[in-house]
Amino acid sequence: MARLTADLSNGITQLTSRRTSRLVWCFPARRETRVASTLRAASDGIASLTKIGILGFGSYLPSRVMTNDDWAELLDTDDEWITSRSGIKERRVAADDESTVDLAGAAAEKAMADAGVSAADIDEIIVATDTPEVYLPDTASYLQHRLGAGEVTAFDLGGSGCAGFVLALDIAKSRVQSITKKILVVGVELTSRLVSRTNRATAVLFGDAAGAVVIGAGDEVYAEFLSFDSGTDGQHTDILKLETGGTRRPFSIEEARREAHKDLIMDGREVFRQAVRRMTAAAENVIDRAGRLKSEIGIVIPHQANVRIIDAVRKKLGLDEDQMYVNLDRYGNTGSASVPVAMAEAHQEGRIKPGEVVVLTAFGAGLHWAAAALQF
Ligand code: ACO
Repeated sequence: MARLTADLSNGITQLTSRRTSRLVWCFPARRETRVASTLRAASDGIASLTKIGILGFGSYLPSRVMTNDDWAELLDTDDEWITSRSGIKERRVAADDESTVDLAGAAAEKAMADAGVSAADIDEIIVATDTPEVYLPDTASYLQHRLGAGEVTAFDLGGSGCAGFVLALDIAKSRVQSITKKILVVGVELTSRLVSRTNRATAVLFGDAAGAVVIGAGDEVYAEFLSFDSGTDGQHTDILKLETGGTRRPFSIEEARREAHKDLIMDGREVFRQAVRRMTAAAENVIDRAGRLKSEIGIVIPHQANVRIIDAVRKKLGLDEDQMYVNLDRYGNTGSASVPVAMAEAHQEGRIKPGEVVVLTAFGAGLHWAAAALQF
């Protein structure tokens, strides 16, 4: 793969190899062509040669900590089982007076502050969540109002499971490219309120959190998007689902009494198998599409579901342990929030070096998967 760059000041257009940065071809651009392309770029709002990427990061973790021992007091489980099967030691639980939009709002405000923008500068809002503020309308509407943003397009990406945030990044990038200037993308889950607290097979795995980024164009981006990959395999809807409350299985008094609407059905072993396969393939695809080699990956920020899934993906990609960012020991599986929270932390902790290629890879109910390659 080659990179086409144009120096409009001296009129030189050059083609360089992405891999070696070596000059492949160089020619003077005609002045008229340069002026026309500059004007077109200005009218589009985005110069085609401008980087599109992340302008700011933010995350919010509720302050209440719930350890494995806390769960062992409520359910027939123990720290040894949870740690050895999942790698999780503790997770956060939202306060009783917090709802999804509170978590999303706190993360969004940090991301906007980090990007040096205010709510008035945001041109679009996308919220990835499977635990919305209310059934209708979407969480994005509540978030827009809470932040005091303008009457901009705001919508949710729901039901994509833990892949929702990375899929939302892909959509946001295309929107920046075509019409919009700055997009707020949020991944948020408040699973503790909507998933059964009595089923030990699922309850202990999840945590509440929100992560956010501001996406835009310009040379000041922290990280430039290089490529995306995503897909869906609808033949496996049954291995991870929460079906009561939809048209297939509407609410009834009986179902409500036994809290069927909180009954997350999960075939853990099959989810595990599919997650390893899809997250690995998606990571390989984005590296390939970016014209890079696996050996050029600096760090992978995977969806934080299970440390054994992360380790299996690492081995398949041929990476070292310190090339996989892991924080699920502290937060558990935070669904759509897991990748943005991990990315914000990895950036804050200096785990991502300037110039490094970072791969995000996620997987969730659907089955959906999504990955991205970024250049920091
Ligand atoms: N404490 C103690 N025992 C438990 C618990 C618990 N919290 N939960 C289940 N068990 C028991 C089961 O009852 C079962 O007992 P049995 O054998 O007597 O019937 C046994 O443990 C199950 O053991 P395994 O099937 O060997 O457990 P496994 O090693 O597969 O681990 C786990 C289960 C952690 C769910 C694993 O399969 C997994 O992580 N899968 C991926 C699922 C996932 O990540 N889901 C998150 C949502 S989707 C996503 O984010 C991608």
